[in-house]
Amino acid sequence: MKPYVLLLSAALAACCHSPKQGRPVYLDLSKPVEERVEDALSRMTLEEKVAMTHAQSKFSSAGVPRLGIPEIWHTDGPHGIRPEVLWDDWNQAGWTNDSCTAFPALSCLGATWDRELALAYGRSIGEEARYRKKDVLLGPGVNITRTPLNGRTFEYLGEDPYLSGQLVVPYVKGVQENGVAACVKHFAVNNQETRRTETNSIVDDRTLYEIYLPAFKAAVQEGGAWAIMGSYNLYNGQFNCHNKRLLCDILKDEWGFDGVVVSDWGGCRDDDEAVTNGLDIEMGTWTDGLRGAASNGYDQYHLANPYLERLRDGRATEDVLDDKVRRILRLSFRTNMSPEPHYGLFCTPEHTDVARRIAAAGTVLLKNDGVLPLAVPDGGRILLVGENAIKKMVVGGGSSSLKTRYEITPLEGLREALPGVDIAFERGYIGNIGTSYNNVSTGEDLSESRSADRLVADAVAAVETADVVVFVGGLNKSGFQDNEGTDRQQLDLPYGQEGVIRALAAVGKPLVVVNISGSPVSMPWADVADAIVQGWYGGSESGRALADVLTGAVNPSGKLPFTVPCSLEDGPLKTERQYPGIRVEGEQWWQEYYDEGVFVGYRWYDTRGIAPQFAFGHGLSYTDFAYGDVTLSRKELRKGQTLTAKVRVTNTGDRDGAEVVQLYVADPEASVARPAKELKGFEKVFLKAGESRDVTFTLDESALSWFDAGRHAWTAEPGEFRILVGSASDDIRSEASFNLR
Ligand code: BGC
Repeated sequence: MKPYVLLLSAALAACCHSPKQGRPVYLDLSKPVEERVEDALSRMTLEEKVAMTHAQSKFSSAGVPRLGIPEIWHTDGPHGIRPEVLWDDWNQAGWTNDSCTAFPALSCLGATWDRELALAYGRSIGEEARYRKKDVLLGPGVNITRTPLNGRTFEYLGEDPYLSGQLVVPYVKGVQENGVAACVKHFAVNNQETRRTETNSIVDDRTLYEIYLPAFKAAVQEGGAWAIMGSYNLYNGQFNCHNKRLLCDILKDEWGFDGVVVSDWGGCRDDDEAVTNGLDIEMGTWTDGLRGAASNGYDQYHLANPYLERLRDGRATEDVLDDKVRRILRLSFRTNMSPEPHYGLFCTPEHTDVARRIAAAGTVLLKNDGVLPLAVPDGGRILLVGENAIKKMVVGGGSSSLKTRYEITPLEGLREALPGVDIAFERGYIGNIGTSYNNVSTGEDLSESRSADRLVADAVAAVETADVVVFVGGLNKSGFQDNEGTDRQQLDLPYGQEGVIRALAAVGKPLVVVNISGSPVSMPWADVADAIVQGWYGGSESGRALADVLTGAVNPSGKLPFTVPCSLEDGPLKTERQYPGIRVEGEQWWQEYYDEGVFVGYRWYDTRGIAPQFAFGHGLSYTDFAYGDVTLSRKELRKGQTLTAKVRVTNTGDRDGAEVVQLYVADPEASVARPAKELKGFEKVFLKAGESRDVTFTLDESALSWFDAGRHAWTAEPGEFRILVGSASDDIRSEASFNLR
């Protein structure tokens, strides 16, 4: 044999794909993931490793083609699977097979207070992601509602860390059952859109650990999330996509996270920190971070050529790179190279059903003087007024915008549900007539030539012949409403809707107001409405789900996941330094001080004794629930023991229904200022008319603790504790106390 042939066969024998050596370990699905990771890593060149750590297109990062390791495909998230976009452009690619099931916005899921529905949501969206060959779903979001004005409140699970944590865990598990990673976002203290890429959040440790971190921690430790997205803002002076404290010290060291940290799109801002501070994959809004838009300039990313240069000249070491690549390989072996075959499902009747059930279960009946459920006989007439009765909402709002096969509007839903009733429509006001986002259009034409006064006059005139008026208004997903990148500018309803509501009420017919929004709106007009319903961006089945609740086909059981304040002035954010932040001499970025500490949402209102318009946890039903006395399994609790609280709940009405039984803990003797009460348990119980059930909660010291920053530890102080059980944070039905020894 000629020498070069010998050499060649020797090289081939050493190569990973030599048939003589069998299947390389990294391709051997029966081998433990960690063995596969080490094997793949050992075969990779420096260039191949670096290529994995940054985007190669708007939504993908490189695999290792030579080794057959696939690219990683990311997708928004969190309410459905985003349409395919062009390789290097945000506009949709124009595929005809990517219209998904749109699930309700996460604020609606928050309002269900239902862990099983959160699991069903995660499973279904995970199936859709897998079918569309996506490996990382960019969601769910668990940022806390600190200000009701935050433009992205609709993408989050509300104001309470416990509620958010309880719902994010099943969502994450459901997604990941499909071999798709949930990428929980936006880590962390990212609670507003105003100047989101130039604001430094200054938060004390107690507040960080008690309010802003628990849902992320639950997602990681209980949900087993495989990915986390860093947020755009800074925390303690460092950008969060490469924030050493958040990513290295807390997420990876303290919580033991073994997954991948993905930057928010364009959130990576520094060559050195990108390497050293815990970021694993850099994804970008523009092709060069936030700074510019070179066409296909992915090599310019912080973790691309600049990183390679650092590695080559010794400013960066390969062990740090290897840690990133190990995590990325682990992600692949959990998703697109997982031993379990996953094929996914897309737009199934089951997904439609899940979307409708969640949208209905999250709908909150805020007030009802008896006009609901609608009891209009066949031949009767309902007048629907308001733009949100006809506006499709799935398109818009920023990165969560979707392309869906269909979306049922409230008008369509009600007409379908009540075929014998004449459902008339009047616009009432003009809000936003936009119907497209990134080249996806709803196909609607919302143009309107009548003046604002004419619209009100026409609506009022139409009331005369109606049995009932249903106003369907609220916010939408355009700029400065429920929308990424901007915060709302007012708590009130926009577009003159208050005037329309008052004009309709003045006619004297029964009036139902449906507020469709993803965040709280003030309701100074609440007294003039006979019933008020909080609806959400309900996704594909939105209008049907709303009709289910209005007609009584579904008995409402949603509860507010956030406080609806009477006014901004009542809330905890009093100063500009708290929100939206201020300029401080000598500081490059806007500074925002979380001076209110742990007093966020009901923790503020209840402690200060300020009555909101509607409280956290509030939500009515078409039936009534009676609570018995709460009994505790012990009067004294010692460290390490658990305590159960039991309460009997009875459906005393004549309709089947569900109640969310809420348990709050109060620590009246604490050595630090603690909220008047904190949610530490809830159960959603379905009770037939007349049925009773004992609801039991088990608590341990963790439910009693506050975070002692000095000791960097959770502390439960001996003394008296109170257990408050009720139907809302302002509707406690029974209490009991015990002593911690
Ligand atoms: C958003 C993320 C989103 C990403 C990709 C960013 O602007 O903040 O939530 O996942 O874009 O679309």
